[in-house]
Amino acid sequence: MNDMTDESRKPSDPKRREFLGKVTGAVAGAGVAAACWPFVRSMYPAADILEKGTSTIKLGNIAPGEMKTVAWRGKPVFVLHRTDEQAERMMRSEGSNKDPQSDELRVQKPDWLVVVGLCTHLGCVPVRHSDGWSCPCHGSEFDNSGRVLKGPAPTNLMVPDYRFDDDDAIVIGEA
Ligand code: FES
Repeated sequence: MNDMTDESRKPSDPKRREFLGKVTGAVAGAGVAAACWPFVRSMYPAADILEKGTSTIKLGNIAPGEMKTVAWRGKPVFVLHRTDEQAERMMRSEGSNKDPQSDELRVQKPDWLVVVGLCTHLGCVPVRHSDGWSCPCHGSEFDNSGRVLKGPAPTNLMVPDYRFDDDDAIVIGEA
């Protein structure tokens, strides 16, 4: 039979009790840090991805009016093949007064628009329709130049660095 009470198990010396408390805390902290490290490390992209940081998309199979989404550095990038009519309309407009910008500054060729597919409000992925994109989260609207027309998004969709590669491909992540 064990007749030790809970009180009798506690160290009677306050300094010893304090020491044991610190040791226990340190061991627990080290355990939590060790358990978290693989998770924290997994949030960093692999070195080769950071170094490369480019995505290439072939343009031949994107018909006028169609859009393809490509992953680039963990983000969606919309590559829209604009029809002549869509491009002309965008060239004639400056977007809205939320973030006015000429279409000319946002494209390298009138028939191709390349934008990061993340809403500039809180980062949702806007949904495509023929006149642009609608954000399903809080209703921001973007035109076919990726410019914000209304809603809480403060700025236009971001245009990433990209370059045309022999007219039949786009390399995203290189200027
Ligand atoms: S995240 Fe797009 S409107 Fe809020």
